Amino acid sequence: MHYPLYRPRRLRKSEEFRRMTRETRLSIDSLVYPLFVTPGKNVKKPILSMPGNFQMSSDIIIEEVRKTKGLGIPAILLFGIPESKDEGASGAFAKDGIIQRAVAEIKNAVPDIIVITDVCLCEYTSHGHCGMIRDTEVDNDPTIDVLAATALSHAVAGADMVAPSAMMDGQVAAIRKALDENGCVTTPIMAYSAKYASCFYGPFREAAESAPQFGDRKTYQMDPPNSNEAMREISLDIEEGADIIMVKPALPYLDIIQKAKDRFNLPIAAYNVSGEFSMIKAAASLGWIDGDRAMLETLTSIKRAGADIIITYFAQEIARLLQDR
Ligand code: PBG
Repeated sequence: MHYPLYRPRRLRKSEEFRRMTRETRLSIDSLVYPLFVTPGKNVKKPILSMPGNFQMSSDIIIEEVRKTKGLGIPAILLFGIPESKDEGASGAFAKDGIIQRAVAEIKNAVPDIIVITDVCLCEYTSHGHCGMIRDTEVDNDPTIDVLAATALSHAVAGADMVAPSAMMDGQVAAIRKALDENGCVTTPIMAYSAKYASCFYGPFREAAESAPQFGDRKTYQMDPPNSNEAMREISLDIEEGADIIMVKPALPYLDIIQKAKDRFNLPIAAYNVSGEFSMIKAAASLGWIDGDRAMLETLTSIKRAGADIIITYFAQEIARLLQDR
């Protein structure tokens, strides 16, 4: 194939040609919409660093979940902001904890949307780390027991899928075991397998009030330059019983998504994280980029890299845009 016999521009000459030869199609079917639940009634508190996102009480969340379902989005991902925090993250696995109550209420009001819960401890610990602290270290093995109890409490409350995000070694196996031993054999695990120690979680930590009070997360989340290690992390999670594997963040790690897609045959989720969202919102609000087009191009690139599922704060907006086409 060479010029002038072959002219690639022939297939780009009209929108119809471009549409017909398009290789990647974004679909509402692959979207997951994250939501932040907070105690109280009628609470809808804007998250300043994430325009259009709110901390919401469960009554308001239910409205948001209805809207999400109405747009054809198949799933939400729930994060909880508890009333109080302690060293042992007791709010994470409490029977009447913020997530446990919210899940039950949501499932009751809107039964046919997938409710996924984030399983982590950073929102529930007074120190803001994702695990139990011994001296100044996050202690792995006691932590996975707490994560297992947390995941089980979510499943018992009615969660359709649990998503462990603490990056502790052995967390998926511990959770699978707890679920299986307690009658939750059909609850899938979406594992945050390759989760990097990223600056792009900044806005989320305001949203979830989960910033570490000392140190950072580099001893448990992955070092950004590493790619082979991501494949090892994913292999481990698959061996431990993950049903869906995740790469997070998405945009700075498209190569990891693609490599995982080539190598593994499980569904792959990519998390288009808070910082990726807020950058586009900020630039668009300054008039520096076209926000809608940036959203579309970004999410398409994540799909093109190989993601089957995209977790994104743009879910409602992109669903509206895709519906109108
Ligand atoms: C919990 C968790 C985080 C995110 C998802 N689950 C924050 C973190 O690890 O600090 C980030 C999501 C986002 O930035 O949108 N550990």
